[in-house]
Amino acid sequence: MQTPRRPWADHTLPLLAEGYAWLPNRMRESPDHVVRTRLMGRPALAVRGPEAVRFFYDERHVHRHGALPEPVRGTLFGKGAVHTLDGDAHRARKSLFLPLLHVERIAGLVEEVAAAWDEAVTSWTGRPGVVLFDEAAVVLTRGVCRWAGVPLRDDEAEPLARDLVALVDGFATAGPRHWRARRARGRQEARLAELVEDVRSGAMTAPADSVLDRVARHREASGELLEPGTAAVELLNVIRPTVAVSWFVAFAAHALHRWPLHRERLRAGDAAYAAAFVHEVRRFYPFAPFLGGLAVTDLTWNGAELPRGGLVLLDVYGQNHDEKLWGDPYTFRPQRFLERPVGADELIPQGGGDPRTGHRCPGEGLTIGLLEALAIRLARLEYTVPAQDLTISLRRIPARPRSGFAVTGVRAPA
Ligand code: HEM
Repeated sequence: MQTPRRPWADHTLPLLAEGYAWLPNRMRESPDHVVRTRLMGRPALAVRGPEAVRFFYDERHVHRHGALPEPVRGTLFGKGAVHTLDGDAHRARKSLFLPLLHVERIAGLVEEVAAAWDEAVTSWTGRPGVVLFDEAAVVLTRGVCRWAGVPLRDDEAEPLARDLVALVDGFATAGPRHWRARRARGRQEARLAELVEDVRSGAMTAPADSVLDRVARHREASGELLEPGTAAVELLNVIRPTVAVSWFVAFAAHALHRWPLHRERLRAGDAAYAAAFVHEVRRFYPFAPFLGGLAVTDLTWNGAELPRGGLVLLDVYGQNHDEKLWGDPYTFRPQRFLERPVGADELIPQGGGDPRTGHRCPGEGLTIGLLEALAIRLARLEYTVPAQDLTISLRRIPARPRSGFAVTGVRAPA
């Protein structure tokens, strides 16, 4: 390990300035892929690579309680969310999500979203132009609410989509986006907590076995029902990330525009190619920069030490662009996923390890299913891409094409 000149100098400000590039920039100075630094006043150790993933997801090394800063809990995840639990409490809460997002159930959601997309396309053809990011968020909001049993009037879809996007958009900034996210969370948690109470009191009937029904009936490891506020947090933890797939839809549109050769194979509905395209979108484009937890005990990784209570960071964006793993990481090349089987701890845009026992995203299969359906639909859609700012700034977390990807002259597929 090469020791940086000032290993424990605080890097909170460089992180805010450099965004996604902050950790990869530091990693470049360390051939062993381990960096000692300091964030928010705490010593931190950043790690990368499939073995480091296993180290990070070992509960004897890293736990989550107390690791997430309040501004992230107050916007992106919600307080008391599954993301912040450890041990038995985590497993009991995770058991709420796993059956809901099981492969057999998610087909229903993919169908709802595909139907909502097809309906929306008809309305886009009558308009001079649309912004794909915004439209995809509304489509996903309609689809996920129908599937989850959450009532949604037609005129509520757009404002709800705006709030759900705001929750994701505002977690990593101190500016107006952050305050928008906090207001959106307050509004949506209050509405959903009331809905859960109505289901429990019988004032409203949730469709049997729907997400709403399951969340309302879910019991903690202690046997208690979830507090209505926590139930609302976890309902949002299904609905909000589903709508966040709109980021990947905008990235897929960007990829099809930059490298149109991928359009033909997607249009033909080649399932293996669609899966490879979707993996490459999730690998190539920036979403989660890194993940963090706290050292349960004094830790050593590749010769670098971290005291108990220090921060352990998993370099997600850096690993998805690591030359040792991908060869040509900055080339968009879906074929790489057809050439060799890629290990679950190599490609980690939605975390690593085992989703059943650790914190890996339980919605990964759903994300892939939704994106496959929407990428094929996008490739079949006819539209013009007018001049606009398609820059994706790596300084902005979360990143997206600045214009949101505007299209004009939309024509439905023949
Ligand atoms: C956790 C990314 C979609 C539900 C996570 C984590 C990441 C992530 C990075 C943290 C893993 C960790 O802490 O180790 C994404 C991305 C998505 C997405 C980029 C697509 C835009 C979804 C969907 C759902 C979902 C569609 C459910 C409908 C969750 C939940 C957790 C989680 C409940 C917490 C798991 C736990 O702490 O045990 N996701 N996710 N995500 N995700 Fe996703």
